[in-house]
Amino acid sequence: MTPFSAIPDGLLARACERFRRADRFAYHYARGKLGGDAIFAELLRRGLLPARPDVLDLGCGQGSLFAWLLAAAEQHADGRWPADWPPPPQPVRLRGVELMPRDVWRARQAFGADHPLVRVEQGDMNAVDFGRCDVVTILDALHYFDHDRQRQVVRRIRRAIGPGGLFVTRVGDEAAGWPFALSTWVDHVVTFLRGHRLPRLYARPLADWRALLQQEGFAVESLDMNGALPFANVMLVCRALPEDAAPAIA
Ligand SMILES: C[S@@+](CC[C@H](N)C(=O)[O-])C[C@H]1O[C@@H](n2cnc3c(N)ncnc32)[C@H](O)[C@@H]1O
Repeated sequence: MTPFSAIPDGLLARACERFRRADRFAYHYARGKLGGDAIFAELLRRGLLPARPDVLDLGCGQGSLFAWLLAAAEQHADGRWPADWPPPPQPVRLRGVELMPRDVWRARQAFGADHPLVRVEQGDMNAVDFGRCDVVTILDALHYFDHDRQRQVVRRIRRAIGPGGLFVTRVGDEAAGWPFALSTWVDHVVTFLRGHRLPRLYARPLADWRALLQQEGFAVESLDMNGALPFANVMLVCRALPEDAAPAIA
């Protein structure tokens, strides 16, 4: 199976079209990312998000995930949806936080300033107020800051979503050997191509990521998320436990 085969007809084109309003890079990045990265189709195929999610995407880049979710809802409304997939979520709010002004600009061009559901703001997830929501996503961005700050962000996410809320993240497994080295190299290349400085990365073995999340009050399920690619990426689907079930909330 190629990484493209699972995508419902028309979904990729619909999701990417809005990025033409930004620049050529934004459009082609969206095609590559949404078309080639298994996590986007898997989020939908597995029905991981609630029916009407209020989503906060931290490190949202140009808002590729939001374009994907909006396009999925439209495809479904048009009757163009695989019979064996659950209905896609109908988001009630899509808020993104992104550090890099260039990506925020691309998102704002793509969605417009007055989109009824989407707002992408420039900020550091270590500093912005998360407010309240019921789903937080961090796709490939938690490893950009140190371990203490990772814990603080995870702790604040749990408070923002409350018991029963969902945190979906993807991390690299530092213990995975050469696939992890390859993932890190690709991360650096893509970061450079997107016009950013090469950052220092703060990895952990998968067992450490799981332990961190469990200590901070989440039930954690890990799913391999590499599609056909030889990477070391793992999606962690984390459900916030009730306060009295959480072992390590301050
Ligand atoms: C590998 S990219 C992934 C982008 C997006 N999640 C996606 O899947 O297309 C990681 C993103 O996280 C952003 N980022 C890194 N540290 C951040 C922080 N402290 N606050 C907000 N965004 C951050 C980067 O600027 C970058 O856009």
